[in-house]
Amino acid sequence: MSQPLFKKVAFIGLGLIGSSLARVIAAEHLAENVVAATRSKKTLADAKALGIISEGFSDPVDAVRDADLIVLALPVRATQKILETIKPYLSENAIITDVGSTKGNVVEAAHAVYGQNIPVGFVPGHPIAGAEHTGVHAGKVDLFANHKVILTPLPSSAEWAVEKLIQLWQAAKAEVICMDVEKHDEVLAHTSHLPHLMAFNLVEQLANREDNLDIFRYAAGGFRDFSRIAASDPQMWHDIFFANKKAILKAVDGFEAQLATLRQLIEDENSQALMGLLGHAQAARQHFNHMLANKPLMEKNKVTQQFTILPGEKTFKGKFTIPGDKSVSHRSIMFGAIAEGTTHVTGFLEGEDALATLQAFRDMGVSIEGPKNGEVTIHGVGINGLKAPKTALYMGNSGTSMRLLSGMLSAQQFDSVMTGDASLSKRPMERIAKPLREMGAQIQTTGERGTPPVSITGAQALKGIHYDLPMASAQVKSGILLAGLWAEGETSVTEPEPTRDHTERMLRAFGYEVKTEGNRISLQGGGKLVGTEIQVPSDISSAAFFMVGAAITEGSDVTLEAVGINPTRTGVIEILKQMGADLTVENERIAGGEPIADIRIRGTRTLKGIHMPEDQVPLAIDEFPSLFIAAACAEGQTVLTGAAELRVKESDRIQVMADGLKTLGIDCTPTDDGIIIEGKGKSGDWSAIFTGGEIESHHDHRIAMSFSMAGLRNSGEIKIMGTETVATSFPTFTQLSNQAGLEIQVSE
Ligand code: S3P
Repeated sequence: MSQPLFKKVAFIGLGLIGSSLARVIAAEHLAENVVAATRSKKTLADAKALGIISEGFSDPVDAVRDADLIVLALPVRATQKILETIKPYLSENAIITDVGSTKGNVVEAAHAVYGQNIPVGFVPGHPIAGAEHTGVHAGKVDLFANHKVILTPLPSSAEWAVEKLIQLWQAAKAEVICMDVEKHDEVLAHTSHLPHLMAFNLVEQLANREDNLDIFRYAAGGFRDFSRIAASDPQMWHDIFFANKKAILKAVDGFEAQLATLRQLIEDENSQALMGLLGHAQAARQHFNHMLANKPLMEKNKVTQQFTILPGEKTFKGKFTIPGDKSVSHRSIMFGAIAEGTTHVTGFLEGEDALATLQAFRDMGVSIEGPKNGEVTIHGVGINGLKAPKTALYMGNSGTSMRLLSGMLSAQQFDSVMTGDASLSKRPMERIAKPLREMGAQIQTTGERGTPPVSITGAQALKGIHYDLPMASAQVKSGILLAGLWAEGETSVTEPEPTRDHTERMLRAFGYEVKTEGNRISLQGGGKLVGTEIQVPSDISSAAFFMVGAAITEGSDVTLEAVGINPTRTGVIEILKQMGADLTVENERIAGGEPIADIRIRGTRTLKGIHMPEDQVPLAIDEFPSLFIAAACAEGQTVLTGAAELRVKESDRIQVMADGLKTLGIDCTPTDDGIIIEGKGKSGDWSAIFTGGEIESHHDHRIAMSFSMAGLRNSGEIKIMGTETVATSFPTFTQLSNQAGLEIQVSE
């Protein structure tokens, strides 16, 4: 057996937090010996009976002798006294940590006791976890699981001590973050202390009214939700408010100023500004929802949502309206923001990716109303009107936001930083940074291997360039052209193959001249955009899942209404037709400058394997995961080549799809730039193709939705892990799938 992490751990105090950590240490065998000191004999006896300590002492001095880890798990105000008491008895390399919710005063206490010679093992900590009950019996071994623990190492702290504490908290399944003491106290002042203070204050304000009985009797959910935390322990909050006085007073000042602004808007009946403020706050709440719900959206190894699809014969039928196009939605916000005048958008995709773009522009001072039922109104600030964001712009899962914004931000007068989730943080950003540098931008990809965060220094004069795109990427093309709006002279791009042209089309719709000559696209810098109406068509990339679902299901009949059929996006239709799908494009028309049509697919014949045409690859680039599912159901072999770009999407879509297909019993071979899939279909035979199995979606929405379609032809239960990313592009996916007849059970 390997050595435990510690020889002897001494807890000073054994309430909820201390006893929970002691339980973790016992369960994970992290120490040879665990002891505790508290004033209550009963607590010590109970802890012994629970088997979480071997010995208890009333005097802390007896507990800390020979201990190599001392955990101060008692009220923060007692820190100085305890440190003084135990100081002479500590072993030389003992680690001393605490669990208090303020850190500045703990460090002050250490200075008061040790002066400048704070022991190297002293590393303050703060597990952000709690429960309604307190005391040794309330402790839980999983109290810290999936919660954050903040360590605030001091300049004097030894690295080995920090490392050991990280291991300890990771064993408790916590996510450990290190930050400096001041930052900790400031962050907590805003996120925890201020909300508690406001809750106490509101309840107090209402309780003091003469009609308080009525107020409390009729108080609805809003008051209940808001005031819940005012039921917490007054002594504790009294101590915290004093302990973190400086940072809390600053947070209160900020609150007062913001409240005064809001008050003024109401007094002035300033409708537009009030809507802007409320909309901004609401969108921020939605945007950060996954974080607030403690559902780390795309963090490694943390499955937060899964789909389960049972075996059995299914139908797949109906008429559906698929949500708005992601690419067009992003661009409508970006261009509306820098246009002069108002832009009105309908059919906007209210998915997390497009909302990340929307939030970014709000963060840069643009007033945006909505989205509400797909409607958004953007009050454009003009080409030079964006303002410096106060913090880093969070792009979530969205590569399109980060790459297009790289171009726009490179041309601004202010500095900016863009970050993203676990998936986006692995995606290549040098492909856009490099040409932008040629234009004179100061842009850095500060992650390992040219990945995010992206950091941009503003106030650079950009000059137009000509760029030969080394890869067929609409994002890179668009990023360069957008920087070109501010650059001197002409900016032009030649693409190796045509890619989606929404940027070109929409710039024209905003009155900006863009020339297309063959594969060369160019524009002149220094013009202006004028606000307009944008009608976002349904997203053909989302519709693709339903097309494939219908193509592989016997007797299916699905119509997808008003889907965008921009010729740079229709590869999926062409490929499915070549595979023999019964697919018709009906009722073609133009809406908002983009061609749209109703697409009808029926399950009348077995698909056949093909060599997918390479010229269709950029035109179907996002649809291959679902096309691989179609290929698995086809008769004969399907070969894809020329699609290396698939390896740098939200996941490595070649590898991840190959792994998943194999899990479901499909014979396939991934290659550098494609895949070979041995289809299991037989003409006229509609029986199951896929076995059951567990699929990992790797934070990739399209992987999750593609394998959902395999659930139309499965002989065993299919479980798809990490499906929360579906909300980035297709928030109504499970609802519409269920309506069509594919029952997807969603569990958190
Ligand atoms: C997009 C371009 C494509 C596509 C992505 C959206 C866009 O990416 O995969 O989903 O809106 O410009 P690449 O430019 O990386 O090919």
